Amino acid sequence: MSWNFENIPDQSGRTAIVTGSNTGIGFETAKALALKGAEVILACRTPAKGLDAVQRIQAESPNSTVRFEQLDLSDLDNVSAFGERLNVAGKPIDLLILNAGVMVPPESKTAQGFELQFGVNHLGHFALTGHMLPLLSEGARVVVVSSTAATQGAMNFEDLNFEKRGYKPWPAYGQSKLANQLFVTELQRQLQAAGKSQKVTAAHPGWTSTDLQRTSGVFAFFNPFFAMKAPKGALPTLRAATDPDASPAAYFGPDGFMQMRGFPTQVPLLDKGKDPQVARKLWEVSESLTQVRYGLV
Ligand SMILES: NC(=O)c1ccc[n+]([C@@H]2O[C@H](COP(=O)([O-])OP(=O)(O)OC[C@H]3O[C@@H](n4cnc5c(N)ncnc54)[C@H](OP(=O)(O)O)[C@@H]3O)[C@@H](O)[C@H]2O)c1
Repeated sequence: MSWNFENIPDQSGRTAIVTGSNTGIGFETAKALALKGAEVILACRTPAKGLDAVQRIQAESPNSTVRFEQLDLSDLDNVSAFGERLNVAGKPIDLLILNAGVMVPPESKTAQGFELQFGVNHLGHFALTGHMLPLLSEGARVVVVSSTAATQGAMNFEDLNFEKRGYKPWPAYGQSKLANQLFVTELQRQLQAAGKSQKVTAAHPGWTSTDLQRTSGVFAFFNPFFAMKAPKGALPTLRAATDPDASPAAYFGPDGFMQMRGFPTQVPLLDKGKDPQVARKLWEVSESLTQVRYGLV
């Protein structure tokens, strides 16, 4: 039987952070978790959008505990301030869902000068997870949202920011989404090596109609014909977050043609996303670029 919203176990007593949850897949993920009883922190960059999303969830689920917390993944100082606020509050986190993302924007940089997609999709989430590590409860899950675009990705450690070869939007997106898979591989290895009970899982939403396609005319044009709607596109993430049987580093995507549509099923991480040496190298580079050290092993 197809895995659906009904399969999500009761989440009462659990606390989730969902990045980029004011719209699209992140919003639907946050809403579903709230409907299932989780306390959900909407970590979004724009206060007006985040607060509006809180209201929209509460309108559907008046008893839910949902709140906004400002997070801009394109500024490592902002990510660090987010981490500090939450660590001072000290509330344990059971689900950390790394959903926010940008796709093929015009050439742009993060506050610290990294190519925007590598900076937001990978480095911002790498730093965030490092800051959140002390708060992760026993058995907590980190869920990483990657993409089939990782297939086209390659890690170019000589030019991670597309400065030497010139900016190319799709290769930069592919690199950032491959980096997401390599992060899963190395974080899971380190958690296991350190004897921790937490695990990492991953998901991709196939092709889902959202604001993500705002700068891609072709995808936006074909959205009404081929793309899934956001509530269905959120199911792989929700399964990665809540399926009690999900194994460490399990990756979920749609079960239909070319993993573009359908219901969530386990799919393999790319071989190049599981390469232990590249994953280790990306980890070291990410620590150095973000100045965030996990200290697990
Ligand atoms: N939709 C698809 O077909 C598809 C396919 C493969 C993978 N994905 C992945 O799925 C995830 C969710 O995408 P989506 O389709 O739901 O896209 P979306 O509707 O555009 O949502 C992206 C979210 O990320 C947030 N965000 C962007 N930059 C940020 C920053 N600097 N700091 C904090 N938040 C930031 C956005 O905030 P604003 O609203 O303020 O911009 C928005 O909330 C992404 O990781 C994406 O790569 C999507």
